[in-house]
Amino acid sequence: MKIILLGPPGSGKGTIAEKLAKDFKFLNISAGVLLREEVKKGTTIGKEIKKYIDKGELAPYKFVVEMVKLEIHDKKDYILDGFPRSVEQAKIIEDLNIDLVIYMEISEEKVIERFSGRRIDPNTGKSYHLKFIPPPKAIMGRIITRKDDNPKVVKERFRIYHKETAPVVGYYKKKGILKTVDAAPPPKEVYDAVKKIVKDFQAKDFQKKMIKRERAN
Ligand code: AP5
Repeated sequence: MKIILLGPPGSGKGTIAEKLAKDFKFLNISAGVLLREEVKKGTTIGKEIKKYIDKGELAPYKFVVEMVKLEIHDKKDYILDGFPRSVEQAKIIEDLNIDLVIYMEISEEKVIERFSGRRIDPNTGKSYHLKFIPPPKAIMGRIITRKDDNPKVVKERFRIYHKETAPVVGYYKKKGILKTVDAAPPPKEVYDAVKKIVKDFQAKDFQKKMIKRERAN
C-alpha cells in the first residue's frame, strides 16, 4: 500500500507517519528527515539544502525526487510524509501509482501553538511536544528546537505551503484518492481516524481482489 500524508507544516504528518509505519509495517519516508540527514552529513549538496530549509523554502525538486525514489527502491508498502509538495512533484511520481492520499486539515492558528512546544530528539529525529506529546525524562537533557520553527521561518513555510502545496490537495481530489482528516483534535483521536481510513481501504481492496479472482475462475 502506497500512502501520501499531506498537510500544512505542523499538522502532525510526522507524528502520524511514525505510528502508522509501526502498526502496519510500512516503510516511513519523510522528505524533511532525509533532507535534514543530508544537511547533517555536511556534504556540498547538504550545505546547499540547508540554505533552503533555514529560509523555509522548498529544496530543489529534482534532488528531492531522486532522494525519495532511491529510498523507495523496490518497496511496495510505504508512507510518503511531506512529499510531494507541489503539483510539479506530484506529476513526476505518477508512475508510483499511489493508492491513498490522507490530507491532514488544520488551521494556521492551531499549528502555531504546536510549533512553540515542539522539541526534537537529535539522536532519533523524533518529534515531541512539551504539552501534548511530552518527551521521556531520559532524553530531556538532549532535546532541541528545530531552527526552522522560529516564527519568521514558520510564516515563510506557510506562504510556500499555500502557494505550492495546497494545490496538491485538489490534484489528488480530482483523482478520487484523497481522504481528509481533521488534524486539530488530540493525537490519539487523529491517529484513530487515520487508522480507520487505512483499514477501510485495505478491506475494500481485499474485496475487489476477491471479486476479480472469482470472475477470472
Ligand atoms: P518537513 O520536515 O517536512 O516540515 P513540514 O512539512 O513543515 O512539517 P513539520 O515536520 O514541521 O510538521 P509535521 O506535519 O510533520 O508535524 P509533527 O508531527 O512534527 O520539511 C522541512 C523543510 O524541508 C521544508 O520547509 C523544505 O525546506 C524541505 N522539504 C521537505 N520536503 C520537501 C519537498 N518534498 N520538496 C522540497 N523541499 C522539501 O507535529 C508538529 C508538533 O505538534 C510536534 O511537536 C508534535 O509533537 C505535535 N503534535 C502532533 N500531532 C498533534 C496533535 N494531534 N495534537 C497536539 N500536538 C500534536
